[in-house]
Amino acid sequence: MSRLIVVSNRVSAPKDAGESSTGGLAAALSAALRRYDGIWFGWSGETTETFTGELKMEDRAGVTVALVDLEAQDVEEYYNGYANKTLWPLFHHRVDLTAYEQSYGQGYERTNARFAEVLAPLIQDDDIVWIHDYHMIPLARDLRRLGIRNRIGFFLHTPWPVRQLLVTLPFHRRLVESLFDYDLLGFHTQEWLDLFRDYVTSEAGGRQVGDNGMEPSARRCRAGSSPSGIDVDGFIAARDSALGQRTYDRMAASSAFRSMIVGVDRLDYSKGLEQRLLGFQQFLEDNPSMRGEVFLLQVTPISRDEVDTYQDLRARLDASAGHVNGAYADMDWAPVRYLNRTYRRDQLAGIYRAARVGLVTPLRDGMNLVAKEYVAAQNPEDPGVLILSRFAGAAEELREALIVNPFAREEVAQAIHRALTMSRDERIERWTALMAAVRASDVAIWRDDFVRTLTALPGKGEAAS
Ligand code: G6P
Repeated sequence: MSRLIVVSNRVSAPKDAGESSTGGLAAALSAALRRYDGIWFGWSGETTETFTGELKMEDRAGVTVALVDLEAQDVEEYYNGYANKTLWPLFHHRVDLTAYEQSYGQGYERTNARFAEVLAPLIQDDDIVWIHDYHMIPLARDLRRLGIRNRIGFFLHTPWPVRQLLVTLPFHRRLVESLFDYDLLGFHTQEWLDLFRDYVTSEAGGRQVGDNGMEPSARRCRAGSSPSGIDVDGFIAARDSALGQRTYDRMAASSAFRSMIVGVDRLDYSKGLEQRLLGFQQFLEDNPSMRGEVFLLQVTPISRDEVDTYQDLRARLDASAGHVNGAYADMDWAPVRYLNRTYRRDQLAGIYRAARVGLVTPLRDGMNLVAKEYVAAQNPEDPGVLILSRFAGAAEELREALIVNPFAREEVAQAIHRALTMSRDERIERWTALMAAVRASDVAIWRDDFVRTLTALPGKGEAAS
């Protein structure tokens, strides 16, 4: 069997199998690597004065990780700059927040070339390389330049932006064309894939070959969509673990006759947190008799706090949460419990199970695994209701959720009311369909699908002279 090399900027393989990140990516990739004899390569998260290229190998709960430090200028221009201030906002349709700095683009190219130099010697002949996310789009091109001919796949965990916005990026064609050095490109949804194809055919002189092939500029690569998911049985086991159960009991006791609505998101403008608070506030306004009977637990770990737009958002959210509580709380009740911290996966599972409503309302989101975790954690006899933004990739599969437009606060308010008053029969019916969809995109299926497809391809490197 070929080895699998997974590459991503953040190597968040948990130190113990129960640990969790709210984004879900870490759990998904760790589950993948435990199945294959693999290595997870990426940035250590450490900053040094100058780049040494030294590899630090670690074993993390059965996953071998290979980490490299980055120098301060790389972190500033590649990670804080191009990845987080340019590509992230642009790919989430926030042109107003996008920084078009030349130095960021240069730092991005330089850092990817450095990653390639350190990674190339780790790659053995039969290895399959699977690169993740927008931080490392040009990495295959840089590896090919160093003579790497292995099959290399790329999966984008964010949305693909509409062409009309993508073309605002200087050198957009150079960036997109570097994707053609992969053998296989993966997107979460048909919508992102269609947008990618639209760009390639309109801007990069490419044409579609058959159902899944793209022939861009005389170089052929395959592109497909497959929704990623969670480790469903692992998540259920986490829910049923001692800590999951204790957390459920603690939340049930602390809710005492009140219905809990839960939101779990990194502190990010793409998650629609301000709009969510406005929607919840509208619900309180529209339903005075339900005040005191419901509260929103919003778990929001601080994210990318070196970037000013994130600092600004944090301040605005502090104010908004404080405002809702100031305006509506009573002596023995606060409508919002707003927490800037993380929880372990088993604790989150217990929290989700105790929540009557899962509120997942991003303004634009590649997939959103929190929505799937919420569904998986429910008690089948008495499940809660998922409210899901139509702009989350997950909405393509989770059609039995209450689908909302997160920009329309009245719609969010009405969905909250509907969720809280829904009959048990309807909740069971919806949950059953949702759970089937969550199982259908289990992380094992997603992983095997991608790796199998990549392995079966002839291999661009082999075809090249
Ligand atoms: C999203 C991205 C991931 C990223 C995560 C956390 O889920 O798709 O690639 O790792 O956010 O962001 P951070 O900047 O902390 O790595």
